[in-house]
Parts: sequence; C-alpha cells; structure tokens
Amino acid sequence: MLSEKMLEALNKQINNEFYSAYLYLAMSAYSAFIGLKGFANWFMVQYQEEMVHTMKIYDYVNDQGGKVRLMGIAQPPTEFGSPLNIFEKTLKHEKFITKCINDLVNLTIKERDHATNIFLQWFITEQIEEEANDNEVISKLKLAGKESNGLFMIDKELAARVFTPPVASKDGGTGKQ
Ligand code: FEO
Repeated sequence: MLSEKMLEALNKQINNEFYSAYLYLAMSAYSAFIGLKGFANWFMVQYQEEMVHTMKIYDYVNDQGGKVRLMGIAQPPTEFGSPLNIFEKTLKHEKFITKCINDLVNLTIKERDHATNIFLQWFITEQIEEEANDNEVISKLKLAGKESNGLFMIDKELAARVFTPPVASKDGGTGKQ
C-alpha cells in the first residue's frame, strides 16, 4: 500500500523517466542528422532503456494497487551542439535523475515504506552505471579533441551498443547483458 505522498512522487518519476526517453530519442535524431550514426545508435539504446525504467515504476505502482497518473511530457530541445556537448548534457540530466531517485529513497524512509525502498535499490545501482557510462564517453571525447579520426573511432564504438530487453518487467532485469 502506497501513501498518497509516495504515490504522487512515483507518478512524477514515471514522468521523469518518460522525459528521459524522449530526451534521448531527440539526441538520437540530432546525432543522425549531423552524421554520427554510432551516436544515434547509442542514444536509441538509451531511449529503450529509459522506457524499461518507466515501465518498471509503472508496473510497481500497479502491483501496489496505486493509480498510475500519466502527465504531459515536456518537449525536449532539438539542438545539442558538439558531440562533447551532447554527452555533457546527458551527464547533467542523469545527475538530475540520480537526485530524483535519492529524494524518492529519502521519502520512503520518512514514510516508512520498506517495499518501495527495496524496489528503488535497483535504480540507485543503475544510476551509478549511467553516470559512469557518460563519464567514460566524455573522457574519450576530450582525449580525441578536434581530431576527426578520434571522433570516428568513438562513433564506431558507440555503434556497437545493443539493447537487450529484460526477460520480464518485474524480474529486476536491467535490459543489459
Ligand atoms: Fe532512467 Fe537514465 O535514468
């Protein structure tokens, strides 16, 4: 059973995760437009992963007998600047999501909601990985600098990312191998 406050906060996080998916889809479109097919692929996989996050919370609210309330999704930007800018914006957004997850966990403690606290542990671990992935690409892009060879190598690397759907939405699956 979810408290009103917890239900409202989880519904807000469903919207945040939907927006994350929408933002990364916009980044994928932008990357394709500027000719970076590998970047476009990486962000398309990221979009799919965000939809997994969205549906995990959606399913959890349903399982707890709560009412899912879908809200309007904000329009993402259409311009993201240089390849380095795209990933810096990605990291900034993920830091915001990490803060949202931490706030949710703080709320579970306040509300003494142990089930939601356990449920959110997966997201805490996931956020560590998300930020680490972004930092790794940012470091490589900084090393490559203005060298087009370096950028093409990174683009090739990002082209190899594959989305693996979780076996079931409630299995704690990460969508990754
Ligand atoms: Fe669902 Fe990238 O946080």
